[in-house]
Amino acid sequence: MDELDKYWDKIHLKYNSIYDEWLNRYVHFFKKEDSIIELGCGRAYCSNYLLNNGFTNIIACDFSEEVLKIVNTENPNIKTKLFDMSIELPFQDSSINVIIADLSLHYFNSSTTKYIFDEIYRVLKVNGYLIARVNSANDKFYIPNNNAQEIEKNFFYDGNIYKKFFEKEDFKTLFKNFEVYNLEEKYIDRYEKPKIIWEFCIKK
Ligand SMILES: C[S@@+](CC[C@H](N)C(=O)[O-])C[C@H]1O[C@@H](n2cnc3c(N)ncnc32)[C@H](O)[C@@H]1O
Repeated sequence: MDELDKYWDKIHLKYNSIYDEWLNRYVHFFKKEDSIIELGCGRAYCSNYLLNNGFTNIIACDFSEEVLKIVNTENPNIKTKLFDMSIELPFQDSSINVIIADLSLHYFNSSTTKYIFDEIYRVLKVNGYLIARVNSANDKFYIPNNNAQEIEKNFFYDGNIYKKFFEKEDFKTLFKNFEVYNLEEKYIDRYEKPKIIWEFCIKK
């Protein structure tokens, strides 16, 4: 995606994030030796949490070179991989047990989102999990204002980046091949204003 990685490089040099323990409730599904990838990891707090809890086979992935430099400096034990998930997931078919994607799957139009979910399905092992959080269409504080361009329903370009906001309906197609363990709309308290997201855990 043209220059969007560079946009994120700048953001990552300014902001940090805080792990709000959202993943804790799912880790009993994983085995210590499971292959786990974190997509759009940013500062990789989920990977750090898992490493600190005895999981060893983790790759933190992002398309921002800068953020992966920070991750490697902060924790030289974390494996990282640089790629744009909208192009492909550079992993073999049925090779990954768990994919985690926190607030990173909502930057794409409907067809690219569908493509990424298909890629996730391809690389997951049978019984493998995708556990993620994405923007909700009810997220009134974070939906771009009138200056933003609505390129397709609930998909905006605000002059810097694209953002998608999901309605429950959107997941019907995206989850078609998966078994749904949970899908919950929630408030999270991690930015200045409350943010509404969808949290889900689905299984191949
Ligand atoms: C809101 S941040 C979330 C970061 C981290 N998961 C967290 O919750 O702190 C979104 C992340 O997705 C990454 N990202 C956005 N588009 C991407 C793409 N096409 N391929 C890979 N990573 C991408 C950004 O660099 C950024 O790290």
